[in-house]
Amino acid sequence: MLLKGKETANQIKEEIAKEVEAIVNTGVRAPHLVAILVGEDGASKTYVKNKELACQKVGFSSTLIRLPEETTEEELLNKIEEINNDDSIDGMIVQLPLPKHISENKVTQAIHPAKDVDGFHDVSIGKLTKGQDTFISATPYGIIQLLDRYNIETKGKHCVVIGRSNIVGRPMSILMSRSGNPGNCTVTVCHRHTQNLEAFTKMADILIVAVGIPEFVTGDMVKEGATVIDVGITRVDADNSKGYVLKGDVHFDSAEKVAGYITPVPGGVGPMTIIGLMQNTLKSHQAKFNG
Ligand code: GUN
Repeated sequence: MLLKGKETANQIKEEIAKEVEAIVNTGVRAPHLVAILVGEDGASKTYVKNKELACQKVGFSSTLIRLPEETTEEELLNKIEEINNDDSIDGMIVQLPLPKHISENKVTQAIHPAKDVDGFHDVSIGKLTKGQDTFISATPYGIIQLLDRYNIETKGKHCVVIGRSNIVGRPMSILMSRSGNPGNCTVTVCHRHTQNLEAFTKMADILIVAVGIPEFVTGDMVKEGATVIDVGITRVDADNSKGYVLKGDVHFDSAEKVAGYITPVPGGVGPMTIIGLMQNTLKSHQAKFNG
């Protein structure tokens, strides 16, 4: 069965839009998200545009700040500080990757934790790890909600996460092992040095793949009836009008035959990641206006 991220995301967007309408009807301003995009990376431009469109759809204000590739680290940090001090802004994201001369770590740590709707700040990650209330980074948050909306049982199950990035794999593994629902899983984290990967993937009741290698996981690596979450979205050259097709980290056609539930690419995890961002921005707004 397909886990239709796009459909679920649209449903949640409608719910958020209703909440925003109710907020604005009380005379309070709408939530406001600022995105900073440095340089001309094609995929980043698309992601940021989709985030802006999602803001429009739910009734948020959004501002896109586009800075040239040659922006210095200091200039970017100054801009972040300005936004940190601007009361009319609830959340800020700096789209990654950044040009090589700018430290991603310095940038993510410069964003005030109260506006860290990407959940990349050490404070956000620390709180997540300790099971405290915080901004959960968008992709893991979106996946959790997809599992939740489809009522997929996670308690006591074996969840295997392939990939240990700070953005997806690591926080995902923490969320799936935490006390809560979805959660309460036994979690195994696999990565590039894992030996006999297939032995682990075959044991997974829930398999979450975030490696960025097209069709890395094939059907013969999947346990019968497993839930397969494909985080990959790689542009692969193709002879069509766009010049590329989007491929997941899972070989869909073979995995679909074995899996109980599976996310398609596109239309699976991707749309859900934007939901996480919208919800974090709303949460930040609520913290400001509802205490
Ligand atoms: N680049 C890839 N994913 C993300 C994300 O979730 N947030 C930001 N800021 N940059 C990204």
